[in-house]
Amino acid sequence: MRILVTGGCGFIGSHFIRRMLERNTISKIFNLDLLTYSGHLGNLSDISDDRYEFVHGSINNYDLLEELLIDNRVDIVVNFAAESHVDRSIHSVGKFIETNVQGTGCILDAIVNSRTSNRSISLVHVSTDEVYGSLGPNDDPFTEETPLDPKNPYAASKASSDFLVLSYVNTHSISACITRCSNNYGPNQFPEKLIPLMTLNCLDGKKLPIYGDGLQIRDWINVKDHVDGIISIVELMNEGALDTGEIINFGADNERTNLDIVKEIIEISGVKGSEIEYVRDRPGHDRRYAMGFKKAKNLLGWEPKVDWRTGIFETIMWYKDNTEWIESIKSNQYRDWIDTQYGPE
Ligand code: NAD
Ligand code: DAU
Repeated sequence: MRILVTGGCGFIGSHFIRRMLERNTISKIFNLDLLTYSGHLGNLSDISDDRYEFVHGSINNYDLLEELLIDNRVDIVVNFAAESHVDRSIHSVGKFIETNVQGTGCILDAIVNSRTSNRSISLVHVSTDEVYGSLGPNDDPFTEETPLDPKNPYAASKASSDFLVLSYVNTHSISACITRCSNNYGPNQFPEKLIPLMTLNCLDGKKLPIYGDGLQIRDWINVKDHVDGIISIVELMNEGALDTGEIINFGADNERTNLDIVKEIIEISGVKGSEIEYVRDRPGHDRRYAMGFKKAKNLLGWEPKVDWRTGIFETIMWYKDNTEWIESIKSNQYRDWIDTQYGPE
């Protein structure tokens, strides 16, 4: 199998590439990444495998995509490339439309125009639970049938991209699958998201900024479990054993409030001196996400394996031990974002 991964230098994409290279089903992985603020070559710098090749560029570059797909006889595209941070989308949506919507459109056009009568190119489009909106305290978890109701600009851009993919399945008969996953945690996550941000602040003895009352709930899944689910899909698609247009949810039955997570980070990090600070709530803040993943169980035989306590402990220790990685991603751009969002230190 020859795969084109997009956004493979980000958090989830880099874990996907690492684990995919452990499989003998793979003969080549091309990783097309623009290296935006959240993409980091260091996430994969230890990989020395002839089957892996990095390509610097954008999913918005149609000519480059077409060349990669045709010249390299790519079988499957796995699209992780995105603007992924809700808070940034609230400050300004332009890049989210450009990458998440137009970029996905560009991939779809390149797939349609690069396939031939005897060679198809499949797509796995990595989406999110946020497209379903927000749950009340007693609502059942989201299923693949839950109507889309995105509530923030990031979620709206992801929902748009999902609709584009489904429209290409219907109009152009491409072979595609959409995955929707809950909140991931693990090593290499850019420290603008809750768990790495709070971990680094805690290790540095800084304040821990909780939005609103901190009782919002997320369904936390270890990134290894998420990428294992995607790998199952890629391998099934390659065997032609998955119907086109399938939507598959991943979750972990692991609902926790933000406040509980932050208290656990303080406890595990073992550093004293950091204090929780309640700050202005995120505008339009989704209250609760929870993912039903029966379909993934039935269709893929997948279920989450990593125990939360083990996973969060390993994650916090990873940030504690990887100071070089942390310093290398703390660019001026990163510091500007922290000042913009939380105020200057
Ligand atoms: P991330 O921000 O860590 O990584 C995004 C990657 O995409 C970066 O390497 C970046 O350089 C690259 N990129 C951005 N624009 C690009 C472009 N135009 N062309 C090529 N590369 C580009 O994000 P992540 O957390 O790894 O998320 C990956 C995907 O998974 C996203 O589509 C996101 O919506 C989805 N997702 C994330 C989570 C989560 O909890 N993090 C949960 C569910 C779904
Ligand atoms: O649910 C899947 C989504 O999870 C992915 O699609 C997104 O790409 C990913 O960023 C994530 O979105 P969230 O908005 O849920 O993640 P974030 O880590 O930004 O925030 C998690 C919760 O923590 C949310 O309720 C907001 C809160 N929060 C976050 C930050 C950064 C705080 O209270 N304080 C903070 O400083």
